[in-house]
Amino acid sequence: MRARPWVRMENASTDAIVAAVEKCPTGALRYERDGVPETGPAETTMVQIPNGPLLVRGRLRVVSATGAVVADETRLALCRCGKSQNEPFCDNSHRRVGFDEASPQPDRRDDAESPDDVCPPQDFDAGP
Ligand code: FES
Repeated sequence: MRARPWVRMENASTDAIVAAVEKCPTGALRYERDGVPETGPAETTMVQIPNGPLLVRGRLRVVSATGAVVADETRLALCRCGKSQNEPFCDNSHRRVGFDEASPQPDRRDDAESPDDVCPPQDFDAGP
């Protein structure tokens, strides 16, 4: 993991490298093949990693509250611990802080009475 570059193109076939890159959980590794960037699966999936991030696959666009596109990816790891220095993305801080999802979270809104109490309605169709 500490070796750089992470991928040595001369050590494997293109298909093997593509297969390895597509397993990268965070999207830190990506590829273009014949000038065409990788496309995510049409269906979006999310996998909750125990005591870790939410892994998301699909055709993903993260947009800031001001409408700026923060990420346009096929794979992302989103922070669930609230300690990332690169929110909303996981930066492995969950390991440093010993994130334990079974422990009560101080910011959790158990008193929320409606979805508006947690997050106001968003206009996802407006786009950036
Ligand atoms: S879940 Fe990884 S930094 Fe928060």
